[in-house]
Amino acid sequence: MQDKINEILKSSEDQLQEIEDAKQLQELRVQFLGKKGRFTEVLRSMGNVAPEERPLIGKLVNEAREKIQKAIEFHENRLSQIEKEIRLKIERVDVSVPGKKPEVGAVHPLSVTTQQLEDIFIAMGYSIAEGPEVELDEYNFELLNVPKDHTSRDAQDSFYINENVLLRPHTSPVQARTMLSQKPPIKIVCPGRVYRVDEVDATHSPVFHQLEGLVIDKGIHMGHLKGTLDEFVKKLYGENARTKLRPSFFPFTEPSAEVDVSCYVCDGKDDNCKVCKGTGWVEIMGCGMVNPKVLDGCGIDSTVYSGFAFGMGLDRITVSKYNISDLRTLFENDLRFLSQFLGG
Ligand code: DAH
Repeated sequence: MQDKINEILKSSEDQLQEIEDAKQLQELRVQFLGKKGRFTEVLRSMGNVAPEERPLIGKLVNEAREKIQKAIEFHENRLSQIEKEIRLKIERVDVSVPGKKPEVGAVHPLSVTTQQLEDIFIAMGYSIAEGPEVELDEYNFELLNVPKDHTSRDAQDSFYINENVLLRPHTSPVQARTMLSQKPPIKIVCPGRVYRVDEVDATHSPVFHQLEGLVIDKGIHMGHLKGTLDEFVKKLYGENARTKLRPSFFPFTEPSAEVDVSCYVCDGKDDNCKVCKGTGWVEIMGCGMVNPKVLDGCGIDSTVYSGFAFGMGLDRITVSKYNISDLRTLFENDLRFLSQFLGG
């Protein structure tokens, strides 16, 4: 019996030397100390042992089990130490390895301009309005007093989807939509994409962007329009910027004007200036007092209310602001071009 116990002990010691991981150790524990383990076998055969020897055998078995238990614990510690070392090695961070530089996105220059203009007008008490790019003839022309035979209705100018539906060639239909859905006082600006049949070149694109403005209230007059434009160009181009109105014609405004801003590059001091061509002035938008016919057509009593409107091209403002020589670069989404405006 004693031999058997010693043999089990010896066998456990031998096997423990070979153990490589926690799983094997667990198996070994079951094999020697488990319910159906090898000592259980020994204890079962106690019946064959003389009664006076039984306490001794029992004692030896317990001692052997304790020994094995201790040895298992020792190896448990050893293995967990090894595992820890391996983990530390794997998780080690080499702080001297050069880092990966993440690609940082930027706001598109057109969006920068749009947001800047929105901010200027929001600070002046305007709200932002929106309208669909696929527009009905009614809002785009009819309600804006553009008669059926007007040249701007020419199929060569606008992309028609069918007789009554087109891609809007300007943001002005948002004026009609706003007047029909809101009661005065109205004070909105609407930035958005517009479409016109045009050959693509350095200064033309069939898709471009405009910002429309509309103010309607009692007693609004041309002085308010001029004052608003002056304030706007000062915020956009600096305190020295001035505006000049030139008589013009738009069916939806009466009177109408073209707005020039004093040259933001040379301020009229350079006869060879590329931006103002030496004139000292740069055209930036169309404007006027909302035609009473438009007010009445949109359900606003023109004997009570009056208003002004303006519309400008955002692409041109962007191109001149960043000194971009080719409009197409704004639409091609070439990262080599766009990344120049990082942080812009
Ligand atoms: N819709 C005009 C265009 O696309 C621009 C414009 C002119 C808008 C005068 C207006 C305005 O609101 O009053 O050329």
